[in-house]
Amino acid sequence: MSLIEQAKQKAAFQAVDEHVLPHHRVIGVGSGSTVVHVVTRLLQRDPALNAKTVFVPTSFQSRGLLLDGGLTVGDVEQYPDIDVTIDGADECDSDLNAIKGGGAAHLQEKIVAEAAKKFVIVADYRKDSKVLGEQWKHGVPVEVVPFAWTAVMKKLQALGSKDAKLRMAMKKAGPIVTDNGNFLIDAPFGLIHEPAKLLKDIKLITGVVEVGLFCDMAEIAYFGCEDGSVIIR
Ligand code: 5RP
Repeated sequence: MSLIEQAKQKAAFQAVDEHVLPHHRVIGVGSGSTVVHVVTRLLQRDPALNAKTVFVPTSFQSRGLLLDGGLTVGDVEQYPDIDVTIDGADECDSDLNAIKGGGAAHLQEKIVAEAAKKFVIVADYRKDSKVLGEQWKHGVPVEVVPFAWTAVMKKLQALGSKDAKLRMAMKKAGPIVTDNGNFLIDAPFGLIHEPAKLLKDIKLITGVVEVGLFCDMAEIAYFGCEDGSVIIR
């Protein structure tokens, strides 16, 4: 396993050990490569987990991960009160505001995080920053209704994101389509000193479904390092 993968694993294992408690019955599971280690740890700790706990995934990917592990899957409609949600991030600042949506899943991720009593971020050290935009240069992921994408793009440009781009599938096979049937725009804003304000401004654009800025949501973040240590914020 590469050093980066080991760093992700360290963060994920520690977060599961410290935040998934024996009395928890509903656990939210995010998306991405770090979350794979979350599921591994959950199964390692308690192979009988399936009998007593329901897992709420945040994407097609995390649903598959849970089903492959033989775990019981539910959704927010059935389980609107989640004990804890653990998810990755593309970047997380010193106030625990995060950019998410690199994997095109931030709408469901935000819903599952908001439904949880506690939202925990797991990542490697490259995601740890003082100010959003320092590390993640692809921009803020903005999920949009397909019909509205050019109109939303213009508004994002007017807000200051000159290089906003529609996210394309590999080999330019067409736009990426999210699990919810929408398109995605990646909108770079440079350093984001006021993420909550930017989030509000973007959400007010008609046609925007959800913004990959998670402000004031995470309670704690774990960043795995290549030397085997874990930074906790
Ligand atoms: C998906 C996400 C992921 O959590 C984020 O992209 C981090 O992924 P990884 O753990 O692979 O670095 O927000 O929409």
